[in-house]
Amino acid sequence: MEMIKAPRGTRDVLGDESWKWAHVLKVCGEVARDFGFREILLPIFEHTELFCRGIGDATDIVEKEMYTFLDKGDRSITLRPELTASMMRSYVEHDMNRLPQPLKLWGWGPMFRYERPQKGRYRQFYQVDFEIIGVPSPLADLETIDTSMEIYRRLGLSNLQVLINSVGCPKCRPVYREVLKQFIADRLGDFCETCQNRFDRNPLRVLDCKNPGCKELTENAPSMIDSLCEECREHFDTVTDGLNRIGADVRVDNRLVRGLDYYTKTAYEILAGELGAQNAMCGGGRYDNLAEAIGGPHVPGVGFASGIERIVITMEGQNAYPGEAPKTDVFVVTATPGASTDAAVLVHNLRSAGLSADMDFTGRAMKAQMKLASQIGARFVCILGEDEIKSGTVGIKDMTTGEQESVARKDASAHLAVALTGNPHK
Ligand code: HAM
Repeated sequence: MEMIKAPRGTRDVLGDESWKWAHVLKVCGEVARDFGFREILLPIFEHTELFCRGIGDATDIVEKEMYTFLDKGDRSITLRPELTASMMRSYVEHDMNRLPQPLKLWGWGPMFRYERPQKGRYRQFYQVDFEIIGVPSPLADLETIDTSMEIYRRLGLSNLQVLINSVGCPKCRPVYREVLKQFIADRLGDFCETCQNRFDRNPLRVLDCKNPGCKELTENAPSMIDSLCEECREHFDTVTDGLNRIGADVRVDNRLVRGLDYYTKTAYEILAGELGAQNAMCGGGRYDNLAEAIGGPHVPGVGFASGIERIVITMEGQNAYPGEAPKTDVFVVTATPGASTDAAVLVHNLRSAGLSADMDFTGRAMKAQMKLASQIGARFVCILGEDEIKSGTVGIKDMTTGEQESVARKDASAHLAVALTGNPHK
């Protein structure tokens, strides 16, 4: 029978990588605490309507990429393609506007998009997502970018560039749409089919087309920044000024329109060269009309999401490692089968004292146990033979120096803790 493999676009994060993920999430949690974000856990599936209305019917995500199905109660359900719409749904549903504003929320987990898989792009991928909900201030926009940059800084990443644009508001965007449509209209026939289809429904997305021909055609397209109303212009200037003042490497990119329709004013991405074609490590922006689009009151918001796979790829590309993969401190070896329960008790006591300890469970000969200890990178080996059982001692071998000594078994944990950390209580 043919072996069943993981579905296309999914990946198993194995033991040699998962510890890096744990580190990324630990750092995100620490930054969240320092910046005042509270973690919330949201459902992996939502009513399809949330994303159609929230992200926008005319986006690639809603048109082509959602995992949508009818559940047994005939409800249309979608595996979440992102977290922002769910965050806002949760904010409105739980009347979080009654709490002191703004609400700073963060979350993480798997997202699902039916995209063409390649390095850094998967159908199930993981995001960390940070949102500041309830305030229109441009300083909140600045703070979200600062939050993401702080996460990357603490992860040891460098050479990151912030691309920023303003997509305006319902007052000034229609003006720009018309200006842009006029610019495109003369040469519409030269654009790719996707752009031609988008021309009426979502002309701003034409700016973001990756087709080299379309890119060239929009090279001298009028810039959104020139069409901004006074309020949007001031907002944009405050954010970019703040970014310059905190020392971020910022570039204004007139073509940055993002693939989600809820954005108003600020839209940004953070790029890392190590990612190649899929170079966006982070995407975000302001979404002041999202709450209304999903049936709530007017609630401004701003935030970003960053792909964990892309963070890990960038860490690997930049050799930014927080040390080594976790290793076992002590491996307990038995020189006689009669010592195995004593070994289990010793392992228990070592672990209770805060050391990482392990032993063999398969009845390997002593030599094979020693080999295993060295394969898993144990720093010390505890040896229990007949003599040690009788005398209540244990042989402790330092795997780096090869030196061995005999220690009373009741003192083994403190002895090893001192050897490993210089402190008897690890
Ligand atoms: P997004 O740009 O669609 O924005 O995704 C954000 C980040 O998620 C990307 O920069 C990338 O790191 C990662 N990502 C997206 N798609 C994939 C994929 N197929 N495979 C691997 N990684 C991927 C959003 O999702 C918005 N909700 C961000 C936001 C939050 N805006 C405001 N608040």
